[in-house]
Amino acid sequence: MKVTVVGAGAVGASCAEYIAMKNFASDVVLLDIKEGFAEGKAMDLMQTASLNAFDTRITGTTGDYSKTANSDVAVITSGIPRKPGMTREELIGINAGIVKDVATNLIKHSPNVIIIVVSNPMDTMAYLVHKATGLPKNQIIGMGGALDSARFKYRLAEALECPISDVDGMVIGGHSDTGMIPLTRLATRNSVLASEFLAEERLDQVLEDTKVGGATLTKLLGTSAWYAPGAAVSGMVQAIACDQKKMFPCSVMLDGEYGLEDICIGVPVLLGKNGIEKIVTIELSDAEKAKLQESADAVRKTNGLLEF
Ligand code: 2OP
Repeated sequence: MKVTVVGAGAVGASCAEYIAMKNFASDVVLLDIKEGFAEGKAMDLMQTASLNAFDTRITGTTGDYSKTANSDVAVITSGIPRKPGMTREELIGINAGIVKDVATNLIKHSPNVIIIVVSNPMDTMAYLVHKATGLPKNQIIGMGGALDSARFKYRLAEALECPISDVDGMVIGGHSDTGMIPLTRLATRNSVLASEFLAEERLDQVLEDTKVGGATLTKLLGTSAWYAPGAAVSGMVQAIACDQKKMFPCSVMLDGEYGLEDICIGVPVLLGKNGIEKIVTIELSDAEKAKLQESADAVRKTNGLLEF
């Protein structure tokens, strides 16, 4: 299993590290445009191999896409991260051109690659990759919901004062401070609805804290987060590599599912060797359906800023 990670910044390097440490990939290629940066990150990571007991070969390259040839999966993290006070959508002007260029270069050397899009505004960048590459829609996956769900679980465990391993929860919708939809109605603590333990007001606070999870960290860090985004991607890559049929909320091209079409937005899917194995349709409440429609309207508006 060969994985390419484009962008050797904090998110890309964390992603590469977590993939290597899970030891399911034979090769990880880190690519960046900054001279020597990916090579340096790769070498530093390889010097943890004996310490972290992995056999994955990590190599770096400065812009040479031939080194990414025949990748099974490619992760696009390149582009600029947001600064405190910025929305993800404000990054489109710079990141759209970068992501389009990266995607077209990737498929030149790996025509059947499965692409995971991380760069923001992610739902729109995933949509752009569809239009730029023409890859089958099961091979383009946007990573947002996996990260947002991890943040949702963190906030749920905090409110429930319980181990995170006891909670489960999923976030659907757009990967944006206003558009994501933490499904508090379905959240559980060891199979018991979280609403059995938490008052509506507290669950609403969990929902609001989840929605601004990224912005909260950007304010603290001065830049976007990287550990949880990297870890979220690595779990998705593992599901593909090991054909797990594992369910994640991912930004995928919809063609009528959830009453939406010609849009990439976060819904539950099963990930396996073919990328998106199945889009899972779950019964949403009227309020959740309305929120998803509103979220889709916002994503479509950002998509409208793309110039093909
Ligand atoms: C985040 O929410 C980078 O969009 C990513 O941290």
